[in-house]
Amino acid sequence: MKKSRIVITCAKGVPPFLKEEILSLGLPVRSETVAGVETEGTMEDAMRLNLFLRTGQRVLLLLREMEARNAAELYSGISRIAWEDYISPDEILCVASAVDNPTIRDYRFANLKCKDAIVDRIMSKIGRRPASGPERTGAVVDLYWKKNLCLVYLDTSGEPLYRRGYRKIPLHAPMQETLAAAVIQATGWKGGGNFVNPMCGSGTLAVEAALVALDMAPGLLRENFGFMHLKGFNRPSWDKIRQEAKARVKKSFRGKLVATDIDPKAIGAARQHAAAAGVDHLIEFSTGDYSVTPIPEGGGVVILNPEYGERMGKIEELKEVYRGIGDFFKKKCQGYTGYIFTGNLDLAKKVGLKAKRRIPFFSSNIECRLLEYDLYQGSRRIPGAEK
Ligand SMILES: C[S@@+](CC[C@H](N)C(=O)[O-])C[C@H]1O[C@@H](n2cnc3c(N)ncnc32)[C@H](O)[C@@H]1O
Repeated sequence: MKKSRIVITCAKGVPPFLKEEILSLGLPVRSETVAGVETEGTMEDAMRLNLFLRTGQRVLLLLREMEARNAAELYSGISRIAWEDYISPDEILCVASAVDNPTIRDYRFANLKCKDAIVDRIMSKIGRRPASGPERTGAVVDLYWKKNLCLVYLDTSGEPLYRRGYRKIPLHAPMQETLAAAVIQATGWKGGGNFVNPMCGSGTLAVEAALVALDMAPGLLRENFGFMHLKGFNRPSWDKIRQEAKARVKKSFRGKLVATDIDPKAIGAARQHAAAAGVDHLIEFSTGDYSVTPIPEGGGVVILNPEYGERMGKIEELKEVYRGIGDFFKKKCQGYTGYIFTGNLDLAKKVGLKAKRRIPFFSSNIECRLLEYDLYQGSRRIPGAEK
């Protein structure tokens, strides 16, 4: 099978974790950018990436790299690609683009030109043209056009991979599934001990942790991917890859998963999300203040994603909450490694414990940190420790 350049996009801060995942799937890492990693592989490799990756957003297979100075050149360059080999006139086509070209004021114009070039080409070769629309549930083409360089990709994911399919109830400030997976990877937790998540909100961290503990590929939860809408989609090969992934899924793991939140609505949503992911039997949910979260014997990871005032909550009230988390860590979580994921480093100082590591992440373009604390016996408050 023919190999192509494959770019996997991700949130800023995530490339180091995405790289590890790509390498562990046996694929090379060719290069990396602030929000993506490039590898190389076949369409079958792209299917595997879509199924197994936890931290990537989109798996893009490069079709053509070309020069285009303006919309007319874009149209003629795109028309020269043999679209009839990739997209059937019976499919619904979506074209998305990121454009930074001096002749284009509105990216929608580039989308339109690109879409016209594709459907006109298919019309001229087959006599029928595919319908098109904004939904990414059919065949998806992504265009990256910067200055005169134009990269044309088949988006083999379609809908971005953070849409796992289990999160259905909207709550305030949920963490994106792929970010939660990267955060868990950063803690090094693989299911070998307990995973405790007070302030669990809609349950994203707990559900993603359960998937990791069971070695369950997140793509097993999804029915639809972009590659299924491309000509030559190899269903038997896809079924085989899925079977492989299913065979890896464990029934249980050593350790406990605990998720709590003060808001009963959040716990209700988190339970439903866990059920939709098929992992509700693994997570012990309860409603209550974070400080009364039951902490199982034996150590592990305790992780909190408190509000940080950007999108909800008030800073003054939150100072007390962060101070309280420091006390909770110190008094109740000895023998664990503690983590706080926050977008407000001033608030984090109120925790009063010295962070051993500070791992940078971005959530909706807000710069965040995952702060790691060793909570050994007798951890002490250090005034002004979080500098
Ligand atoms: C930023 S959200 C967590 C989002 C979560 N990571 C997710 O993916 O949905 C913070 C959560 O902390 C909860 N919370 C706020 N104060 C709390 C407290 N004192 N004890 C327990 N939970 C609290 C809120 O109800 C909210 O669900």
